[in-house]
Amino acid sequence: MDDLRELVGLKRAAPRNTAPREESYLPRHVAIIMDGNGRWATQRGLPRTVGHRAGVEALRGVVKAAPDLGIKILTCYAFSTENWKRPKDEVDTLMNLLLEYCRLEAETLHKNGVRINAIGRIHELPAAQQQEIARAVALTRENDRLILNLAVNYGGQAELVDAFRSLAAEVKAGGLEPEAIDAAAVRRHLYTADLPDPDLVIRTAGEMRLSNFLLWQSAYAEIWVTDVYWPDFTREHLEQALRDYARRERRFGAV
Ligand code: FPP
Repeated sequence: MDDLRELVGLKRAAPRNTAPREESYLPRHVAIIMDGNGRWATQRGLPRTVGHRAGVEALRGVVKAAPDLGIKILTCYAFSTENWKRPKDEVDTLMNLLLEYCRLEAETLHKNGVRINAIGRIHELPAAQQQEIARAVALTRENDRLILNLAVNYGGQAELVDAFRSLAAEVKAGGLEPEAIDAAAVRRHLYTADLPDPDLVIRTAGEMRLSNFLLWQSAYAEIWVTDVYWPDFTREHLEQALRDYARRERRFGAV
């Protein structure tokens, strides 16, 4: 913990009666919009698909670094519900990378204490991808060093639609009164029902938007944007984001 305190530039002990230091100055849940793979490749005169492959390497590095930096949950936006609109060869590459990642990386992640989880409309993915995801999730389900939460065929609006449908079904079946629907009830129906909300959302490649990512869950998240393209994103950039986060004052709507 001392190393981490130093990392974020906080050398003094926190005042009494505040949350434990490690909880207040370090984000427990970091969510990342891994943007810029295409531009990274184009800049080098390479096909966009090469950028996505380089993006997987960057992901490997960040997953390795995250638990050492006190991060307990890492949610990464790997494929959105809108990404199907991309050219077929790019969609195929992303689907193959997902398959490869789950197939080749699961064992290493397992050894490193990483639990793999997936959020999104997983049931709409091709059968092979669903199978590999299920296998990786099952293999790693007891691990607790880090939860790697892959957002695949994920959209924040689709997630809310799914939650509302399932709430409506409960109402229809007589198990829930419409008046009993509150924020907690909605939350119970999100893909992330078992996870705390992200404390910090990182976006690479400079765009200032959420792009349909964790819309409900990011209500009070701190947002950190860097111009660095995702394939160039390293542990040092992650540390920089954590340092900035440690300086932010989170008020959650209060004063
Ligand atoms: C955005 O870059 C990135 C994506 C749509 C995919 C992100 C995927 C990875 C980092 C690798 C896949 C990971 C797994 C586990 C399968 P972009 O293509 O929109 O870049 P651009 O904005 O520069 O065009």
